[in-house]
Amino acid sequence: MNICIVGTGYVGLVAGTCLSDFGMNVICVDNDKKKISRLKKGEVPIYEIGLEQLIKRNIKLGRLRFSTDLEEAVKRSLVIFIGVGTPENEDGTSNMSYVHEVAREIGRAMNDYKVIVMKSTVPVGTSRELRKIIRESQTEPNDFDVVSNPEFLREGAAVNDFLRPDRIVIGSDSERALAIVKDIYRPLYLLETPIISTTNETAEMIKYASNTMLALKISFINEIANLCDHVGADVYDVARAVGMDKRIGSKFLHPGPGFGGSCFPKDVNAIVSLAKKVGYDFRLGNTINEVNLRQKETVVEKSRELLGSFDGKTVTLLGLSFKPETDDVRESPALHIAQRVKEEGGMVRAYDPAAMDEAKKALPDVKYCSSYPEACDGADLIIITTEWHEFRDLDFDKIKEKARTLNLYDTRNIYKAQDIRDKGFAYICTGRN
Ligand SMILES: NC(=O)c1ccc[n+]([C@@H]2O[C@H](COP(=O)([O-])OP(=O)(O)OC[C@H]3O[C@@H](n4cnc5c(N)ncnc54)[C@H](O)[C@@H]3O)[C@@H](O)[C@H]2O)c1
Repeated sequence: MNICIVGTGYVGLVAGTCLSDFGMNVICVDNDKKKISRLKKGEVPIYEIGLEQLIKRNIKLGRLRFSTDLEEAVKRSLVIFIGVGTPENEDGTSNMSYVHEVAREIGRAMNDYKVIVMKSTVPVGTSRELRKIIRESQTEPNDFDVVSNPEFLREGAAVNDFLRPDRIVIGSDSERALAIVKDIYRPLYLLETPIISTTNETAEMIKYASNTMLALKISFINEIANLCDHVGADVYDVARAVGMDKRIGSKFLHPGPGFGGSCFPKDVNAIVSLAKKVGYDFRLGNTINEVNLRQKETVVEKSRELLGSFDGKTVTLLGLSFKPETDDVRESPALHIAQRVKEEGGMVRAYDPAAMDEAKKALPDVKYCSSYPEACDGADLIIITTEWHEFRDLDFDKIKEKARTLNLYDTRNIYKAQDIRDKGFAYICTGRN
């Protein structure tokens, strides 16, 4: 089957590569010329485990191509996946301009029956909107169907998640389109991956509901962690015991400096905006956002308390990405903390195994270092902001030689307090103080 994927970001590139690995002929299209020319050479613009090998293999086998020519890609494909960004507008709604632009281009390029699969996270009702835009853009009448197929992969584990998903959601009112998209996922069906066939609207809602639930779980355990600090309880044991209840589950019960990334903050805002549009006050969404912002601020407050003030002090951030195994710094708590420290007269030194280039674009006024010992040079406070493997076994003797004051704030609860205090550090963490 010939497939086109529009957008070669985290979702489009991983989906396109994995589908080519299933044996399909895939053209990945992007309007970013630089990205496409790098991909053509087998260079991978994002940090994602296992992706480079898969791309190289499928380019070699002739099943995976990269192009900037959407028209040609649409003409030769039966199925067109849309995986472009849907970033947040200032008012919290989703910016649908990229999706709409692609829909118009697809409409103009159509030369036969096509299945348009919406993979980006989009507001409920988008499929209906797309049908209208595509129909109005067509230069010749051709049949088409719109399918909603939200993506649930996690950055940092994207290839594995795409190849071994918990479920596949396919929303459509067309039996024909449903059968075609199910056929694409047949290799996963053979692994007994559940397929949920539903309406477009329900599929669109499932994605928002899933991300809101995950964001809620993180905010919930962060609230419990803060309370633990006040009452002298240990959030690690609380979360462990709570998570053993099968009705709750243990995943996403790890406290930290707040959630970030390109999805949770924007998707929670989007569901709140969606509710507002239809006259429903979705209070839980607003609360999740408030709690998350407060959590990032809690890190700033606890750091300030430890130092007296940030003025003239050096704060070292270990980790810049919003979570390990990714170079994505969008909405990363580390960037929020760095910004706040600088606003209050502090200096920030930072090290991250993968996300430095991305962080430099977002926050140039930070001293980026090539190793964690270098980042700790002259530090008054070291904050572990991302739980990269490299930070799980820090060489504290080396850090002691470099740091000015031995203060460690382990926002991710990697270490045991007593172990670090025994090494001569003042140690704080999240919900175990
Ligand atoms: N990143 C994730 O972990 C994740 C997971 C699930 C769902 N999603 C959703 O998937 C969508 C894409 O997310 P992402 O993180 O892959 O985005 P991204 O920003 O990494 O990539 C989007 C790509 O689309 C390209 N693009 C934009 N307009 C285009 C056009 N007109 N023609 C061709 N290409 C165009 C951009 O150049 C970019 O390469 C979003 O809706 C997001 O919410 C993301």
